[in-house]
Amino acid sequence: MGLKAALKKIDQYAVTHTKPLPPLVQELVDETYKEMGRMAGMLSGPVEGSLLQMLVATVGAKRVLEIGMFTGYSALMMAAALPDDGEMVTLELSAEHAAFARGFFERSEDGRKVRLMEGPALESLKSLQGPFDLVFIDANKGGYVDYYEAALPMLSEHGLIAVDNVLWSGNVLDPKDDDAKAIVAFNDHVSRDTRVTHVMLTVRDGIMLIRRR
Ligand SMILES: C[S@@+](CC[C@H](N)C(=O)[O-])C[C@H]1O[C@@H](n2cnc3c(N)ncnc32)[C@H](O)[C@@H]1O
Repeated sequence: MGLKAALKKIDQYAVTHTKPLPPLVQELVDETYKEMGRMAGMLSGPVEGSLLQMLVATVGAKRVLEIGMFTGYSALMMAAALPDDGEMVTLELSAEHAAFARGFFERSEDGRKVRLMEGPALESLKSLQGPFDLVFIDANKGGYVDYYEAALPMLSEHGLIAVDNVLWSGNVLDPKDDDAKAIVAFNDHVSRDTRVTHVMLTVRDGIMLIRRR
């Protein structure tokens, strides 16, 4: 078996040994594939969704910030681990994605914890105040450094930043397009930042976990 095929099988093995998605979230995923075509590949997937949920529960988060929501998958996964009085603030540029997600937030018992802010994330970030216990960065790759710089001062004392796609399908090793170059610049930016400590996980497309020193 080739390396690519083996990695795909290992990923699938991880999925089958991870808690299944709740029915409404599974419906959201299925509907995303039906309605959004190739864009559905932006979903962070069952293992990463469950990992985010576990991080929210483990840090005992009360407030979570997501930058880049898409159809609401990761927002709902994280909201489920928040206490009843917790808040999940999620930022999304696309009106189409926001409308799709709203339909599911309205049907979910965790939806009332979600505050969806539509518009460019950098603008929304200006109107937000911390502290946030977990920040998930998953929007346009060219904005990552700015999102990180805006989020870090809003992080609670023991808060965590999780950043998606930091391996960019392996293209970080030989970055050719703008997105790959932006991810490399972001990874280097964090690696040089003496304010934080960080670890890069090879889960799915790469996740960077960052906390203050
Ligand atoms: C990779 S998807 C997010 C996936 C989602 N976190 C999940 O796991 O299902 C990125 C999202 O960021 C949104 N986005 C892109 N640029 C943005 C910006 N400047 N401000 C806010 N959202 C943006 C896109 O419309 C897209 O829905």
